[in-house]
Amino acid sequence: HGNAKTDDELEMAVKAGVGTIVIDNFDDIDRLERIVKGEQAVLVRIIPGVLPDTHLANATGQDDSKFGLSISDARVAIERLKASKKLRLDGLHLHLGSQIMSTQPFIQSIEAIASLGEFSVYDLGGGLGVRYTYKDSPPSIEEYLDALIATARKYLPSTAKILIEPGRSMVADAAVTLYRVVTIKRSLRTFVAIDGGMADNLEVSLYGQRFEATVANRVGGGELYSLVGRHCESGDILIDGVRLQDPKVGDIIAVPVTGAYCLTMANNYNGARRPPVVFCLDGLARAVVRRETYEDLLSRDLN
Ligand SMILES: Cc1ncc(COP(=O)(O)O)c(C=O)c1O
Repeated sequence: HGNAKTDDELEMAVKAGVGTIVIDNFDDIDRLERIVKGEQAVLVRIIPGVLPDTHLANATGQDDSKFGLSISDARVAIERLKASKKLRLDGLHLHLGSQIMSTQPFIQSIEAIASLGEFSVYDLGGGLGVRYTYKDSPPSIEEYLDALIATARKYLPSTAKILIEPGRSMVADAAVTLYRVVTIKRSLRTFVAIDGGMADNLEVSLYGQRFEATVANRVGGGELYSLVGRHCESGDILIDGVRLQDPKVGDIIAVPVTGAYCLTMANNYNGARRPPVVFCLDGLARAVVRRETYEDLLSRDLN
């Protein structure tokens, strides 16, 4: 996968014997024709021209997406691949975006690619939305799969293999981020500032994702607060207007549903050290990733 795969990366993938490479652009085809020695299975990523109801930065299937080929360009790529002696075109790929809260865009995207011919594989990407807030109601996994399979049966060959690539919906609710309250400031709003923020959770500033939070040992109720991070950006507001029960300096604040794209997008902005990861089950806890140290931050500097 990727819209800008380098020679090195494709060489690494081919050498490692990856099953399938997803072609995003014509340069991918040129590169693979040079790199592949035997035979390599590929899919072509199609822009279905569907804009799902999600944050624009989370949308990848609309007409002007940087990912994939338009339907007309895809026809050209498909013809080229069909004539290739090294690249075996197994089928089509699409990925509409992320945090998609209804099944309709998935249905439309399958309809959109059906006109490209019959293939043995269709990879329909990921994208299923997740319940971050009390108000969110994403489709259930059953509703999502029923919609996908019913549409695939209607528009795609009955023997085709249908793949999906779920990410967020599998892991988001597996994690809770724990922060410590550093300071509470009462001005025009009341700010509860914590020892983290946009370095460990970019979902808010990148996608405007809304989360819920609670004081870890006083769950529910309370006044409305602005839960803010510690970074030098006014946009580093983790949750604006969240009810917290009598928060105090030193309290632990729990922010649930942080298992997707928080750790993977964590960064060192303002010299933030990335947090540890602790697996918990049935009262047992085990650290699986240690907290980053200041030495880690300096470890790549040269004399
Ligand atoms: C090509 C592709 N497939 C699947 C996914 C997973 O999407 P989600 O986490 O929304 O299920 C992504 C996410 O970036 C992606 O780029």
